[in-house]
Amino acid sequence: MKYDIYSITTYDKMEPLGTKEKFWFYTEKDNISRLCKIGRKNTGENWAEKVTSEIAKLLSIPCATYDFALWEKRQCVVSPSFVPEYGRLIHGNELLVSLIDEKYPINRKYKVTEYKLSTIIKILQDLSEIVKLPIGYDTNSAIKKPIDIFISYIMFDCLISNPDRHHENWGIIFDDKEKEYYLAPTYDHASGLGCRVSDEERKNRLSTKDERYSIKAFVQKPKTPFYDNNGKNLKTIDAFKLLAIENKVASEYWLNKVKLLPKESIKKVFDKIPNNILSSAAVDFAISLLNENIIRLLAIREH
Ligand SMILES: Nc1ncnc2c1ncn2[C@@H]1O[C@H](COP(=O)(O)OP(=O)(O)O)[C@@H](O)[C@H]1O
Ligand SMILES: [Mg+2]
Repeated sequence: MKYDIYSITTYDKMEPLGTKEKFWFYTEKDNISRLCKIGRKNTGENWAEKVTSEIAKLLSIPCATYDFALWEKRQCVVSPSFVPEYGRLIHGNELLVSLIDEKYPINRKYKVTEYKLSTIIKILQDLSEIVKLPIGYDTNSAIKKPIDIFISYIMFDCLISNPDRHHENWGIIFDDKEKEYYLAPTYDHASGLGCRVSDEERKNRLSTKDERYSIKAFVQKPKTPFYDNNGKNLKTIDAFKLLAIENKVASEYWLNKVKLLPKESIKKVFDKIPNNILSSAAVDFAISLLNENIIRLLAIREH
């Protein structure tokens, strides 16, 4: 059976954040606000968002839900709001301004050298007593604090080669009714899985004998928007390693989830994508990318 394609008929209000065209709509039937995100032409942003959310689910990583959708004959995805009715999402950049430095460049999009991973770790650790785990996620012996979950988001970025964990792509939720704070689930993975690579490049990389052009080499490239304390832009795996050093129990826990992830379950996710959404080269490339990243992540575990 294939994933459903949700049909959108209403448009309520525009969402100004982010780079993609998007809007919110409300359905009375289930009393839910949903975000419609329209992936850009000639990219696989829609399928990447759906596939990554399904893989996150397989790993029990708290993640926004995404469904394929159609809006005025355009392919897109929909995501039910993870913010409760009387709540609001406080993004990373707002936390940096209010808790660390009022001069933090809240509106800068690129090369924010002030966006240090060590600072984010400190913020999340300092907030441990106040901020709960994502709504619906129960603590266990390894996962007790928001940082223990955040580490799964950074590991996930490495797994799917997502370079886009900038300061508006994570946050905490304030529920004004309950007067509680929660870490938000992870969201916006539409840059992952090589979804913007052309089919020609995919095929060439999949078949090359040149190691420097292989998928193994490709997965080593993506950098995160995070900086280390020496002003160096961190690669996806190095960001995870930094967090893993700080937090061995949680990182072991999440790496074990990766280890136990059956290869067939990843294949099944791709098999369930409706026809004419992605090419077979895109599937082969994404699966190969995931396999390479699994090897890299599990190598950290061995050491
Ligand atoms: N499911 C969701 N529930 C609540 N807010 C969301 C959800 N998805 C996205 N948002 C909000 O919308 C903003 C833009 O969405 P995002 O997926 O990051 O788009 P883009 O890919 O254009 O950056 C996010 O920064 C977040 O504030
Ligand atoms: Mg975004």
